Formats: sequence, structure tokens, C-alpha cells
Amino acid sequence: MLYSLARPILFSQDAETAHQLTLKGLDRLACALPSPKLDQQPVTVMGIDFPNRVGLAAGLDKNGAHIAGLGKLGFGFLEVGTVTPRPQAGNPKPRLFRLPEQQAIINRMGFNNDGVAALVANVQASRHRYAGVLGINIGKNKDTPNDNALDDYVTALRQVYEHADYITANISSPNTAGLRELQQEGAINALIEGLKNEQAQLSQSFGYKPIAIKIAPDLSDEAIVELAGIFKQFEIDAVIATNTTIDKTAVAGLKHGQEEGGLSGTPVRAQSTHVIKVLAEALNGDIPIIGVGGIASGADAVEKLSAGASLVQLYSGLIYQGPNLVKQAVKACAAYQPL
Ligand SMILES: Cc1cc2nc3c(=O)[nH]c(=O)nc-3n(C[C@H](O)[C@H](O)[C@H](O)COP(=O)(O)O)c2cc1C
Repeated sequence: MLYSLARPILFSQDAETAHQLTLKGLDRLACALPSPKLDQQPVTVMGIDFPNRVGLAAGLDKNGAHIAGLGKLGFGFLEVGTVTPRPQAGNPKPRLFRLPEQQAIINRMGFNNDGVAALVANVQASRHRYAGVLGINIGKNKDTPNDNALDDYVTALRQVYEHADYITANISSPNTAGLRELQQEGAINALIEGLKNEQAQLSQSFGYKPIAIKIAPDLSDEAIVELAGIFKQFEIDAVIATNTTIDKTAVAGLKHGQEEGGLSGTPVRAQSTHVIKVLAEALNGDIPIIGVGGIASGADAVEKLSAGASLVQLYSGLIYQGPNLVKQAVKACAAYQPL
């Protein structure tokens, strides 16, 4: 209700300003907001107990600065980040574009963030106001060459580990040159092996925290199957499918349809679901999948579960529909019965 009143005002602003205004407003309301009444069904995935299957996808709260407010929207878990070891400005503005005809977004933010130390301080400060499940999504700095990418991921992992319930390694943003090449055989093996070794070390002091890998939707079926084999070999804890797509055919001709960056929202839905299906078949239940991409209704959330996901996340749908979408998705997932 509140969101349907605020939306025309927000959508009259440039997309990034609207984004900042919404998060600021949410922070102000956070203390006053009651937690929504939800039709929810708890679930255990990656050894973690979730109150429901619907999470906030990475990228909305890159610095973990709005956890208390976002925690009041009914999500079963929040994922903050992507955070890099050192702060970085990201790409020049404008870098965020709404395509309302398709309930879509194109972004080329480029991992703008305040660095991992600032995120950890924010997470610590919010822990007394948010007791829910928290994922922290890590990446590499723009000026770190791919040959040294593992150093960045390990640096970030070490710093966030004790503050996260799970950690996501993002190797699929299209907005950091060369990042997606880390999904290729050779690079991915070294990266995952390095992360798993570090996880084993850290778990001795802080307990076992699952590591998820977030992949792109722009992968061939063969590449997905190959990746699944590597995920199984190294016993990765979960796969998040998918990030934004670089395929803009669905928005050709629309205002902003040719902007550089990753496309999210309705146009990526079917492609993401396809990746989940292929992945689920190849993983054969050994590794859970978190399904994300274009969820704009309860039925869309269930589509991801039917394809083989155990949890879902959303971002763009929240921008277009507001928090009511979270409620709807939670309800639909609670009613979902696997065949
Ligand atoms: C503005 C914007 C920024 C994003 N930033 C990140 C990010 O920092 N890290 C990440 O893993 N995914 C990021 N994503 C991708 C989302 O987490 C999600 O995978 C993708 O948008 C598909 O879901 P959706 O269609 O529900 O938005 C971003 C998406 C948007 C729209």
C-alpha cells in the first residue's frame, strides 16, 4: 500500500537516486515497521534453518548498510554485497536504468562499494536489530588481475567469514571486465579449491560456513554440466543461478534497451529457470540451488522450485512491486509441494 503511493514519486527520479531514497526511507521506518504476518514454511538448506524460502538477492545492499530495514520485509534471508577487499567507486553514472515496459533493469554499477571492512562494521552494528539468516557476497576489485583473483576472494572471505551465515563467491557479474572468465575450467578449479581450503582453515575457529558460487545465465548447457562436475568434485555448498544476462534481445527497441550492463527482471526469468533445470539434472540433488532471475509473482518463485531450486531470491521484482511481492512469493513457496 505504502509502496504503491511512493512508487510514482520514486519512478520520477533517476533510478539510482530513487534507489538511495527508498533505502533511506526504509531505514527511517525500520524501527516503526512491524514484521509482516506471513504464511511461511521453514526449510533447512546448506545446514541452515530458514524461516521461508525467499531471499533478497545481492546488489541492493552492497555495503550491508540497510540490514535492519530490509529485515522487516518478510524475507527468509538477506544477501548483502557484492563487497570487494578495497573500496571502489564503480562505473561513472548513469549506470542504472529502468525498463518498465518489461519490468526490467539494466545495470553496470561495477561493484561500487565501501570495501569489506566497512561492510563488516555495518553487519556488526546491525546484528542486534536483525537476527535472521545473512549471506555475504564477495568479489574482486576491478584493478586486481584475474591471475590474482583468488587472493581477493580469500582476503574478503577471511574478513566476512565469522559474520556471515553463508558466503557467496560472485564470479558472474558482467560489469567487471573478465570476471566471468573465472567460470571457465582451470580458473574455476583453482578458485574453488582455494576457497574450500580457506573455509577448512576458518571453520576450525568459527565453525563451518557454507560457500555458494553465483553463476551467469549466459552459459551453454555443456558449460553448465561441466561446472556442475567441478562443483561436485570440490563439494561446493550451493550454487546461485543466476546473475543478470548480457543478452538484450528481449529489450531491443525499448528506451535504454541498448545500454551496456546486465539485464535483470522479467526478460531473464526463462533463461535463469533453464539454467536451474540443467544444473539440477547434472547435480542430481547433491548440491542445493538458489534460484534467482525475474521473479515477479508467487508463481514465478514456484517455477524456480519446480525447476530444482531449494531457495529463491529476488531483486528487480521488488523495485517494481514493492514488499508485497515478498509476501506473495513466501506464501506460494509455503504451499508448494514437490512432486
Ligand atoms: C542494480 C543491480 C545491482 C546488482 N548487483 C549485484 C551484485 O553486486 N552482486 C551480485 O551477485 N548480483 C548483483 N545483481 C544481480 C541480482 O542479485 C540478481 O542475480 C539478478 O538481478 C536477477 O534477479 P532479478 O531478476 O530478481 O533482479 C544486481 C542486480 C541489479 C538489478
